[in-house]
This record gives sequence, C-alpha cells and structure tokens, in this order.
Amino acid sequence: MEKKVRRIGILTSGGDAPGMNAVIRSVVRTAASRGVECVGIRRGYNGLITGDIIRLDADSVSRIINKGGTMLYTARSEEFMTEMGQKKAAATCKQFGLDGIIAVGGDGTFRGLYALSKHGISVVGIPATIDNDISCTDYCLGYDTAANTAVEAIDRLRDTMQSHDRCSVVEVMGHRAGHLALYVGLATSATAVLVPEKEFDFENDIVENIIKARLNGKTHFMIIMAEGVGKATKVGERIAEELALDTRVTILGHIQRGGSPSARDRVTAASMGYEAVKVLCEGKTNRVIRSVSGKFEDIDIIDALNMKKGLDEEQYEVLEAMTGIHHQN
Ligand code: F6P
Repeated sequence: MEKKVRRIGILTSGGDAPGMNAVIRSVVRTAASRGVECVGIRRGYNGLITGDIIRLDADSVSRIINKGGTMLYTARSEEFMTEMGQKKAAATCKQFGLDGIIAVGGDGTFRGLYALSKHGISVVGIPATIDNDISCTDYCLGYDTAANTAVEAIDRLRDTMQSHDRCSVVEVMGHRAGHLALYVGLATSATAVLVPEKEFDFENDIVENIIKARLNGKTHFMIIMAEGVGKATKVGERIAEELALDTRVTILGHIQRGGSPSARDRVTAASMGYEAVKVLCEGKTNRVIRSVSGKFEDIDIIDALNMKKGLDEEQYEVLEAMTGIHHQN
C-alpha cells in the first residue's frame, strides 16, 4: 500500500534566484492544504547534514512572496558531494521523519537529489536559476526578474553613453550559457551580443557593426556579453583601440540575482511549488518539475539531467536581423 506522506522538507541550493521565497511559500501552503507538515532545511544540503531545520507553517511564509533572496539561505555544499555527507543527510531525513525532500536550484541541486534518493528518500526538484540553462525546462525561476534588472540597468547606462558618444560593454551573468545575454540584448537593442554558444569574429561582428552603425549616424553603442564568453575588459580595450571610441565596461554581476521577483516569477513559483507537493503526495520520487510551452509537468530526474539545452535559435535569428551579425555555425 502507498505510504501516506505526512511531513516533507524544502531547501534551496546553489545560487539564489528571485522567486525562491515565492516557491517556498507555495510548497508550504500547498502542503498545508493537503494536511502535510512542512519543514525548511537551511543553507542547502549543508543544513540537511547538520540538521539545521525549522518548522514552517502557513504563517511563517507570510509576506515573503515579494522578497528576493531565500529565507532558507543557500549554499553549495562540498560535504554533500561525498558518500559520507549523503549518508548523514539521509539520516537527518529519517530522524526528522521526512517523507520527501523538495530542492529548489539548478542541475547540481538535482544531482544532489538523485544521490539522496539512493538512500531511500523521495525527492522532487524545482528549477531555479537566473541563467535559464536547465535543459529539461523552458523556464527557470528567477530568469525574468534578472533579465528585467539587467534591462533597467542597461537603459540607464544608455542614457549616459548617448550623452557622451561612448560605447558600453556590459557583461551579464549566465554561467556558461548565453540565454540571459541574448534575451537582454534583444530587449535593449544592443549593437552586438556575444554568447558562448556562438563563435564570434571581432572584426566582423563588432568592428564592422559599429562602423556600419556610425555610417548610419549612430554615435553610441551597446555591446552585451555573456560572462561565459571571457573578459569584458579585454573586449572594451580592443574596441577603444581599434575604433578610437571612448569605451566603458560594466559588469552587472550579482545585482542581477537580487530584488523583488517579477509577476512571472511569482506565478511560476506558485505553480511549480504546487506541482512538486502534488507529485510527492502521489507517491512519486526522482522527479523534476518543468515548464513546457507554459504548462507544468514532472519528468524523471535522470532524463532531466541527460538533456541538452541549446540557445533559442529563433531568438538568435531575430537578433541577427536586428544587429546585422551573420554567423556560419
Ligand atoms: O548560476 C547563477 C549564477 O549567478 C551564475 O550566473 C554565475 O556564474 C554564478 O551563479 C555566480 O556564482 P557565485 O554566487 O558563487 O558568485
């Protein structure tokens, strides 16, 4: 007979992303609506190893839906990578009577869940990262907010670049992927966007583009670059040298991870949290919640980890049309 789920735990792991608090709220409240108790595990898998656990109820997740960061803190746990760490974490689940764990984060977080499941713990993952680079899902929590934060900052930069006839090189996050840079580049009508998925030719894609834009009367330029491409300072120096252009480099960095989540992230968090609890209550394990064409569903964790996500080619084509960059690959 299927075991009734009485108590579950939630943790956030890896880099924080706007919407993590909203998803904690959704998990706790969905669980409450089903008569399931919920605990919060603090500081990611480290908290599972050390038993850093707090009780969560409907009241304890009040007024957090609009808050950035994560009320459960987050970490990247070295100890949990070891068999010993995983055994300790599984023992904590048993000590606290946890029938399932929901972990919010990226691929590393899901790999952690899979390791935990081998010790007999039921697990479900929820994708959250501003990089939007988790292969199994169209959308990861935090992406929309981070993109909007970057766009707002770049709009401000444009004001001052325009006033001084300058060029701006802006580095956005994204880890090894270019999703965020491409999206932000489209939203800010960048002169060029550099992403790790596409090789670029400095002379063609940057120098020529800027010259063409200059000939069309443009006097300021915006280059958006994904952090995975390399050093933004190097690109800035080269532009200044080869085009005799007053150039400034801005690394947006962690500011993109902070701030109040957008409506999209709050609503996605509500649905993903709801699905995760439902899946555990149905007695399933080793699942990841994903969004496909705006619908939410669960998928096997191993299948999720084995998928590969490329850049959105249609979006890239649009960018090419906007910027005049034409790559061979
Ligand atoms: O994965 C989210 C992310 O913000 C990446 O974009 C970035 O490369 C990385 O985390 C930075 O991590 P940290 O918080 O360790 O500086």
